[in-house]
Amino acid sequence: MESCEVGSDWVSRFRRSIRRWYRRHGRQLPWVGQSEPYTVWVREIMLQQTTVTAVVPYLERFLERFPNVETLAAAKPDEVLREWEGLGYYNRARNLWKAAGVVVDEWGGTWRCSAEELEALPGVGRYTAGAIASFAFGQAAPIVEANTARLFARLIALPVVPSSSEGRKRLWSLAERVVPKVRPGEFNQALIDLGATVCGVEARCEVCPVRSCCEALERDVVERLPLRVPRTDPTDVYEVMVVMRREREVFVIRHPEGERWGGLWGFPSWERNTSPSCTTGEAVRIQRDVAAWGCDVEFLGWQKPFRHSVTRFRLHLQPIAVQWQSGEWLGTEPGEWVSLDELERRPLAVASRRIARRLEWTQGRATE
Ligand code: ADE
Repeated sequence: MESCEVGSDWVSRFRRSIRRWYRRHGRQLPWVGQSEPYTVWVREIMLQQTTVTAVVPYLERFLERFPNVETLAAAKPDEVLREWEGLGYYNRARNLWKAAGVVVDEWGGTWRCSAEELEALPGVGRYTAGAIASFAFGQAAPIVEANTARLFARLIALPVVPSSSEGRKRLWSLAERVVPKVRPGEFNQALIDLGATVCGVEARCEVCPVRSCCEALERDVVERLPLRVPRTDPTDVYEVMVVMRREREVFVIRHPEGERWGGLWGFPSWERNTSPSCTTGEAVRIQRDVAAWGCDVEFLGWQKPFRHSVTRFRLHLQPIAVQWQSGEWLGTEPGEWVSLDELERRPLAVASRRIARRLEWTQGRATE
C-alpha cells in the first residue's frame, strides 16, 4: 500500500478511531491544552531526541527563567546553555536563542503561524514547524516524529528505513493525508500519544484503536517494523581530564563549536590510546602535555575514573588534579580561571560537571 494511496474511507475511519481513543486514553501530559506559541516552541525543541520524562523538569525551569521570547532573546547564550545543561544536543539551545532573536528583532515579537514561515527559524525543521503550527495556531499541518514515524511505518508496512529519503517521503505524505482541518493540534497529539503508549517499540496491537487500518498487522510483520539502520557498536575513547587549580580557582576551556560539547565549558582533556594508568609515568606525561600549552604544573593526585556515553562514543575519563605553578594557557581553545561559584554558573559539559561537583565537596572539606 502506498501512503498516498490510502482512500478517503480509510482516512475517515482512521481519524474517528484516533479521536475516540484519545478522549479516553490520551496521556495527561503537563502541556495538554497548552497552545501559547512560545511555550509550544520551547517544549517541542526540548522533545526532539529527548523523552517526556527528561523534558518535564527542564521545561518548567526554563520557562520560569525565560518566561517569554523577549526574555530569551535578551539573555546571554551562556545563560541559555546553563539551563540546558544535561539535556544534550546543545545546538538546540544555541538555535533557540538565535531564533528568539529572529522572532523579536525581525518579526517584531509576533509569531508567524504557517509551518512554512516557522521553518525559517534556526533549529525549526519540518516536524517542529508542523507541531507549532498545529498546536499553537490550529493549522492543519502534518507532523512526523519518532512516535508517529513508528506508527505510520507500521500502518503502511513501510518497506524501507523511515529515515531514508523514500521513507521520509512516504511518511510525510501519509501525515499530510491524515491531518484534519478540525482541531489538528489535538489530533497530532493523539497520534504522538498512540505511538508512544500503544504502537511503541513493543507494540500492543490488542488494544490498538486502528488495528483494522494496519497493514503490518494484517501481514503479521509488526515486530519487524519499522526497519532499522544497523547499529554500529559504540567507540571507546580514553581521555585524561586535567583539573588545574590555582589558589581558589580552577581552569576551564570552552569546547570548540562543531565538536563534542561544542560551546560548553569543561576541563581540558587529552586523548589516550588505552585506559590511562594512574602511574607516575602517566602523571609526568600529563605534566608535559599541559606544559606544551604553556602551564607548568605539579601533580596533586588521581581522582576516581568514570565512564560517560555521548552519541556513539563511550568515554573513559580519568581526572587528574594538578597545581598550577607558572605560565599562561596558550591552547587553541579559549580558557579561563574561574572560582567554584563561577563554575556553578557556567554551562559545563556533563563529564566536567561531575568533576566540578566533587571539587566543591573536596574544597568544602578542605576548608572545614
Ligand atoms: N514528542 C514530541 N512532541 C511531543 C508532544 N507534544 N508530546 C509528547 N511527546 C512528544
